[in-house]
Amino acid sequence: MNQKFDYIEKVNGNLELPGDKSISHRAVMFSSMSKGESKIYNLSSGEDVKSTRKCFESLGVVFKDEADCLRVNGCGFKGFKAPEVSLDAGNSGTTARLISGVLCAQNFSARITGDESLSARPMERVITPLKLMGANIESNNGKLPLLINPSDQLKAIEYQLSVASAQVKSSILLAGIHLDDYTSVIEKEITRDHTERMLGLKVTRENEKKIISVSMGNYPEPKEYFIPSDISTASFFIVLALFKASPSIRIKNLSLNPTRTGMIAILKQMGAQIEIENMTNYMNEPAGDVVVRKSYLKNVKIDESIIPNIIDEIPVLAVAGLFAEGEFRISGASELRKKESDRIRSIINNLILTGIDVEEYHDGFAFEGKIKPMSFVFQSFNDHRIAMAFAVLSSLNQQGGEVSNFDCVSISNPEFLNQLSSIKS
Ligand code: S3P
Repeated sequence: MNQKFDYIEKVNGNLELPGDKSISHRAVMFSSMSKGESKIYNLSSGEDVKSTRKCFESLGVVFKDEADCLRVNGCGFKGFKAPEVSLDAGNSGTTARLISGVLCAQNFSARITGDESLSARPMERVITPLKLMGANIESNNGKLPLLINPSDQLKAIEYQLSVASAQVKSSILLAGIHLDDYTSVIEKEITRDHTERMLGLKVTRENEKKIISVSMGNYPEPKEYFIPSDISTASFFIVLALFKASPSIRIKNLSLNPTRTGMIAILKQMGAQIEIENMTNYMNEPAGDVVVRKSYLKNVKIDESIIPNIIDEIPVLAVAGLFAEGEFRISGASELRKKESDRIRSIINNLILTGIDVEEYHDGFAFEGKIKPMSFVFQSFNDHRIAMAFAVLSSLNQQGGEVSNFDCVSISNPEFLNQLSSIKS
């Protein structure tokens, strides 16, 4: 369904957002792996995390929704049961790639499927290292469905990532956590580090490289997980508030893990008035309140080394860039083409509707100029982050706009429209 957005004159007040999606996936997985009862507070309400939950339910994990938390009765080391159905990862790359690592070490076969978008996304990036570990995996030419069979040859490896991907890193670590010997993943470009923080893994640095090591000793125990709110979900409201806050919006208890705050750093360089208050820590994950005031923004050079840190925020950063002074340019971001949609194409297809000239590169895009004074009908491309980014653009446009298939936002944030209404004034 097309969702209409009227021009928003002012936003203010407080926002409390659901738990971070990446941390939520991991909390569901690690509590499922541990033996006995865990509780998860402020879990993401998105469909992606529900997909992870459903996969582990099929592996024998029992979940119970309580008023304030999710209770998880995990199966323990190699305690999962053979699933009677395919494990459906839905739209979620994190589910498919991380669970692949876990499944390599089990003594039963399991099949992983996904929706049309996920079935078109590359899986060889996890298949290659997992096969190097001795895993027995069949795939559809490097794509889903995957059939993961038991292997009695699983062995620890040292592996340098060839794509900057926290999903690939985590998949290898979750296979390695079943082995006596240490498996090490070497990163040249730093990606989000929730897996290593939440499992308490050993991290060393050698020159520019980061080495993360795991063994059976790191296998998770049951515990209480407190999940800070999702900075990627917040990014849409932050950009809106930078142009329309009066006097300010405060987003509470936001995850401020330094591997995820690149967007705030770039916006601040652009001139954004963003303050962090009430800093705290949830399970080794920094968090705090983010206060955003109306600001005058100028585009700045975005260094390619920061791309893995801002990969999910680029669609809305481009919207900020559109209303900022000067040229907006992103390069070194070819990974955007492998997300829920080809986000370089999705962003460009929508931006050209506004009448501006956009240059396309294999790894990014650039544009400058003023949008036409009219209402636009944007496409979501069934991609939650594209839908929300262009909802923000529509709300900043004097003539408003529409976004097609807006329901896809439920992948990460089913409450987006209610949250938006709550800060409108
Ligand atoms: C995620 C890692 C990122 C990100 C995705 C979630 C994770 O993907 O885009 O939304 O939870 O590990 P890559 O690591 O493949 O870049």
